[in-house]
This record gives sequence, C-alpha cells and structure tokens, in this order.
Amino acid sequence: MRYKIPRGTYDILPQQSYKWQKLFADFRKLAAAYGYAEISTPMFEQAGLFERSSGESSDVVKKEMYRFTDQKGRVFALRPEGTAPVARAYVENRMDIGAAVKKLYYIGPMFRYDRPQAGRYRQFQQYGIELIGSDNPFYDAEVISILWFFLSGLGLKNLRLEINSVGCPNCSQAYDKALQEYFRPHFSDLCPDCQVRIEQNPRRLLDCKVPSCKEIASGAPVQLDYLDEDCRIQFAAVQKHLELMEIPFTINPRIVRGLDYYTHTAFEVVGGSLGAQNSLAGGGRYNGLLEQIGGKSTPAIGFAGGFERLLLALEEEGISLGDVPAPDAFAILIGEAARDAFTPYLNALRLKGIFVEFDPDKSSFKAQLKAADNRQARFALIFGEDELAANSVTLRDLQSGEQKNYSLENLDLLAEAIRG
Ligand code: HAM
Repeated sequence: MRYKIPRGTYDILPQQSYKWQKLFADFRKLAAAYGYAEISTPMFEQAGLFERSSGESSDVVKKEMYRFTDQKGRVFALRPEGTAPVARAYVENRMDIGAAVKKLYYIGPMFRYDRPQAGRYRQFQQYGIELIGSDNPFYDAEVISILWFFLSGLGLKNLRLEINSVGCPNCSQAYDKALQEYFRPHFSDLCPDCQVRIEQNPRRLLDCKVPSCKEIASGAPVQLDYLDEDCRIQFAAVQKHLELMEIPFTINPRIVRGLDYYTHTAFEVVGGSLGAQNSLAGGGRYNGLLEQIGGKSTPAIGFAGGFERLLLALEEEGISLGDVPAPDAFAILIGEAARDAFTPYLNALRLKGIFVEFDPDKSSFKAQLKAADNRQARFALIFGEDELAANSVTLRDLQSGEQKNYSLENLDLLAEAIRG
C-alpha cells in the first residue's frame, strides 16, 4: 500500500523550506519592530468558538470547517482562521489586565475544506496580526501599514490595498433592510443558499460565488451609503492616518469579508494574477467579537495573509528569496589518520556556527574536491598527512584558488577567515 498526501495539502521540501523560513523571519522582525509579540494557540478549538464568531451562515463555518468529535463526544474543529482563537486566548488568559492594548502576531497552519486550486489549499499557512484593546483609527492604519510594508518590503510592486467600512450593528440594520429590499425581487434567480440568506444574513449574498448570484449582487446597494455619523467619522480618520503614513489605498465599497465578525474598517490587499477572489491578505476591525465569545466589550483589529499566495505572487514578479545556503566550507580529509584527527575540529567549527560539510563516503582528494564544487562551497578545508604533522589546516578559496595555512591551536582565527 502506497499512501498519498491528502488533497489540498503539500509537503515543504528542503529546497523550498528556506524560502518559508525567510518569510517567517521577515514577518517576525517587522512585527517585533512595531511592538507585537508572538502568540501560539492550539490547532483545534471547540467548534462553537468559530460558529459563534465567524458566523454559522458563513461558508467558512457552514461548508469548510473540519469538524470532529473526540472520544468523549465533544465537538472540535481544526481552526479555519486565527482571530477567534487569539480572542479566546485573550479572554481566557485575562490579557486585558495590564497594558491597555495587546499587540499580538501569529504564524501557523489553518484548515478549510475549500476546493483546491492555485493559491487555495485545505491546509494553508497564515501570518497574522491582532491588536486588541483600542478603537483608535491610528491603530487601523498601523495594522494596515504592517501588512503593506511586509508585502512591499519583499519587493512586490503589483499590490493594491483596498479599504472599506462595513459599519457597526447600528448602521448594519438599515443596510440589511436595503439589501433585502434589493434582493427579494430576484428571489427565484438566486441559488438555494442565497434564498435562505436573504432573510438570515443578507450580507452573505454579496459573498456568494455562484455566477448568477454574483451578477445580481453586483448591482446591490453598498454599505458605505448607509454608514451612520460615527462610522463615517471613523472611516475618514482611518483614511487620514493612512495618508499620513503614505500608504497608497483605494476605497472599494464592494469589499465583503467572508467572516461575520467585522465592524467598521475592512481591507484586503490584492496582487498577482490570482485576482480579487484570491486576496493576498485581508482583515479589519472586529469590535464585537470579544464580547460575543464571553469577554468584556473590547475593540480590536487585525489581518491575516496566506504564505502560499504570497510565494506565488513573488514568483510571478520574479522576486527571488535567495538560494538554499551553500556550505561555508567543505572538509577534504585525506587518509584515515587525518580523518580521525580532524573529527573534533569538524564539530568545533560547526559549534562556532560555521557550515562545514564533509562526505565520509568519498575518500580520494579528487572525489572530495568535486563534491565541494558540486555543493558550491566557498572554501575547502584541506587536511592530509602534511597538515596532520604540522597540526594545521589548509584553507583554499574555491573561487580564487588562493590558499593559506591555519594552525589548529586557534580555531577562532580560522573561523574568522571563513566568515570573511
Ligand atoms: P481571510 O480573508 O479568511 O481572513 O483569510 C486571510 C488570508 O488567508 C487570505 O487573504 C488568503 O491569503 C489566506 N487564505 C484563506 N483561505 C485560504 C486557502 N484555502 N488557501 C490558501 N490561503 C488561504 C481571516 O482568516 C481573518 N482571520 C483575518 C483577520 C485577522 N481579520 C482580523 N484579524
């Protein structure tokens, strides 16, 4: 029996993993510079957490959630997203005590039973930011700017930031009513799901992927026209701060996020050829979520992006994340006595952080030199009879051919020469 990887998942092979590590490191560095600390939550949670926060009528919960029952009959779900788990952790760990705002970031796998296609997987890797504890529009712009600088800092040019306001529960009521009035005459042309959505959650109609529904939805009223005074002021302030931060953006009143918890600011970054259906990243405010899951009423804002789509976009724009690192040095050890004698030095150099390769399966000088060449090592560390007698090693620059002898008494000098 040969086993296969589950559909919609992938292996990250060693030739690829350095790219992922580079993106993780860049994101961590940027988030830290803005004062964000990393948080990790479990990969599964009580299913109710997502039903309550993302919304039972959202596709993510209704169709895409991996639900399972454990040995005691409890219903859990593999996390489809990171915001509700972070909010749960905030409430459960009393993170409201102390600093007024909590700035958190995460990197980790999410799971959605989506139809696999380019940039769409069933297990995918998200990077995300959550700022909990303030509704200051400065923070909306700050959170958006982290996303913008992360993506543009990687060299991506083909990026577009689109922002919108989805209002608050107060103005949403008027908007929902307007949507119902708009959609009701189209009832018979809507898909069965949307026929239910009209009464249950009319905003979800705007997110339907069925072509006929999409066409009808394209003429629907937009939330921006129904914002109340406070939401309008808030949205204007977010724009002002984005301008001050010199973040280019466009207003797209048709942004509807796929999760139900959003209030006020909603945004997406689109780029690459995947198009708007496959945004590189998205987020927004969720001022009602913490209360909804049992915490105190606490404003919050965040975003998440998928690394897979980011890698695709980087590839499309021909942006390299560098190559798999080549060895700093390749040890060429000639003769058994030399091999035995050099073994502790091999380890000592590695423990100093020097990447030294050695191939114990090759014995001749020629074969070892060829291996060093194949691995594109910068230096060869040649250790044979002469070096053994002199307790030294020959360091050969494999590009210039220049070589120099170093005593093994002082490995720091040798390490320094290799580091350059
Ligand atoms: P989301 O828009 O559902 O938002 O997902 C955010 C990002 O995750 C997407 O823009 C996309 O890059 C990636 N993504 C989503 N589904 C898939 C998939 N099936 N395959 C590959 N990538 C995918 C959220 O998850 C919210 N938690 C964002 C947020 C944080 N809002 C506030 N804070």
